[in-house]
Parts: sequence; structure tokens; C-alpha cells
Amino acid sequence: MNISIIGTGKLGSAVLQLNQKHKVIYAINSKNSQDIQHIEPSNTSVVIHTATPEQVLPNAQILLPKGLKMIIATTGFDKKALQSLIQLYDATVVQDGNFSIGVNILFLLNDYLAKLMNHFPEYDVAIHEIHHNLKKDAPGGTAIQLAEGIINHLKRKESWIVPHQTLKSNQISVSATRLGSVIGTHKVIYDSSIDAITLKHEAKSRQGFAQGILMAVDFLEKNPDTKGWIKMQDIIQACLLF
Ligand SMILES: NC(=O)c1ccc[n+]([C@@H]2O[C@H](COP(=O)([O-])OP(=O)(O)OC[C@H]3O[C@@H](n4cnc5c(N)ncnc54)[C@H](OP(=O)(O)O)[C@@H]3O)[C@@H](O)[C@H]2O)c1
Repeated sequence: MNISIIGTGKLGSAVLQLNQKHKVIYAINSKNSQDIQHIEPSNTSVVIHTATPEQVLPNAQILLPKGLKMIIATTGFDKKALQSLIQLYDATVVQDGNFSIGVNILFLLNDYLAKLMNHFPEYDVAIHEIHHNLKKDAPGGTAIQLAEGIINHLKRKESWIVPHQTLKSNQISVSATRLGSVIGTHKVIYDSSIDAITLKHEAKSRQGFAQGILMAVDFLEKNPDTKGWIKMQDIIQACLLF
């Protein structure tokens, strides 16, 4: 497929490095941002967006009316506004807070374990994440998504809080550490007086995100009629069906 990429920073370059299959038509950053206007369905099948959050909505406003499909890895923008654009233009957009295939497998395991733990009330659960010291939000979106997965599947947990608040038994403690250049580590810890069970995902490089983004490109190639907001979980589930 012909692809174009907006954002050639840490994540964008990981995608460009890993990609072998697809022809890159435009690779755009802040120096050649006017090239976005030249991306058309006649030259590009999918646009990958890994630029900074401020660019997401203006770029979607340029690209979606043309019928271009987008994979948006950028986080930290107004999701409701994107949803409105997707509906307005009957568009196809893959967007997810975490494109890592390993993390998406962790989400599935997390849901399964939470369901199982309804039968084992002696276990309490907490989440801990570690990221590099430049990450602005804490806890990060992936840790929050893990907490929400537990809340959706484990009846005794109804909300999550950060640890300095007093913890009630129906709450999950979600803690965050900012350390050096750690790419991203997430742990879900179930603890009882007898033992502890830990689910852990540790990113070793940005390649995991790039791999997920390229998997999304393949998904769009194989499923050309899919419309709407597509999540990585949808893509992983579709792969499980093959
Ligand atoms: N969903 C996921 O799995 C996932 C994983 C990792 C990161 N992310 C997100 O991806 C985004 C990018 O992360 P990153 O670490 O790659 O950031 P980064 O290294 O700072 O790269 C940002 C890129 O955006 C470009 N850019 C800035 N302004 C632009 C403009 N006006 N037009 C076009 N390009 C512009 C920059 O251009 P220059 O090179 O010219 O400065 C740079 O190439 C962040 O939102 C991050 O949270 C998501």
C-alpha cells in the first residue's frame, strides 16, 4: 500500500525503520508541514499520524473529507471532536492510546483475570506504571485503561485513585513512577495473605508501538470496507478469528 506519515519524531521514525512492505509517499514533520495539503486518495491509501497533539484535529479536518483513512497514534487531543469528525465524514480511523501488541494482549489477560477474581475475594488489586521522566501525565492512559478493565469485570472494584488518597475497599490504587528513560512498564498486582499474582508488560523499545501501527495498516488493507473508530483491541480480536 502507499502510506504517508505525519510526524517523524521518536515514534514516527520507529515506524519508518520497521516498515518494509509499504511505499512511503510523504514523510512530514514541522519543516514540510505544508505537504499535508498534497496527500490525496490518488497517492496515499492510509495516513499515519504520529505528530504532536495540536495537529490531530486540524489534520483530520483536512484529510477525512477527502476520504483518506487515518491511523492516529498521537494521544492527548479532544477525542469527542475526533468522534464528531468521523461521524460527519463517515470516515475510517484507527486510534488508540497504546498500539503495542503486547500491551493489548495484557489488556485481554487483565480482563480475564479480573473476571476470575470475582470468585476469589481474598485478593486485593493495584496497578503500578513506570515511564521516562519527560512523560507529562501520571498515571498514564494505559494504566487508567487497565484500571477501567478491572472495574468493568471485577464487581468489588468501582473506581481508581492515586495512592496518596485514602483507599476504600472498592477502589484500585494506581501509582506512577517517573524514572530515567524507561519506555513503559505496567504491572497489575493481585495480593492475598497467601501469595501475589502479577501481570507485567515491559516495553523494551518503541518497536512494539510501530509493530502495532503497521498491523493496523495491514488490517485496513484486508478490511477495506470497515468504517468508524477502530481500536487496537478490534484488530487483535479480528486476528484471533483467522
Ligand atoms: N498510541 C501509542 O501507542 C503511542 C506510543 C508512543 C507515543 N505516542 C504518542 O505519539 C505522539 C508523538 O510521540 P513522539 O514521541 O514521536 O514525539 P516527538 O518525538 O516529539 O515527535 C513529534 C513529531 O511531530 C512533528 N510535528 C510537530 N509539529 C508539526 C506540524 N505542525 N506538522 C507536522 N509535524 C509536526 C515533529 O516535527 P519535527 O521533527 O520537525 O520536530 C516530530 O516529528 C505523542 O502524542 C505520544 O504521546 C503514542
